[in-house]
Amino acid sequence: MPVTRRTVVASGIAATGMVTLAACAAEVEPEPVETTPPSATVDEAPQELAGEILLGSTSDVMVGSGTKFMVDESLTILVTQPKEGVFRAFSAKCTHAGCIVTGIRDDEIACGCHGARFNPDSGEPVAGPAKSPLGKIQLEVRGSDLYALI
Ligand code: FES
Repeated sequence: MPVTRRTVVASGIAATGMVTLAACAAEVEPEPVETTPPSATVDEAPQELAGEILLGSTSDVMVGSGTKFMVDESLTILVTQPKEGVFRAFSAKCTHAGCIVTGIRDDEIACGCHGARFNPDSGEPVAGPAKSPLGKIQLEVRGSDLYALI
């Protein structure tokens, strides 16, 4: 899919949660991989972040786990790899009361505030007080790079 809008690329360091934004005019055709469906959206992303954000590398997300990438103070993205080569991205903000989810526990996305659990493949709530799924974020894998499209 060609990129026709302004492209913003952020370089991320997952371990520290730091993301640096930089402009980039290059258009790269994504490789066909299974990612979050294109219809997925997240509504709390600030308008100034609209575009492509380089979150990090596929090697930052182990199979069966998840890694949080702090884009800015208002948006943290959780990328999961529920099966080898299948990556999903969600807003890390719990839909119960807004805590940032802890990560993957016992094959589920866990929120430490009140015990909500979510499916790491779909983001749907599976236990606890949350009744709505985590906000999905469109994700593209290009080579070993993880791009959020917001
Ligand atoms: S905020 Fe996550 S369970 Fe309450």
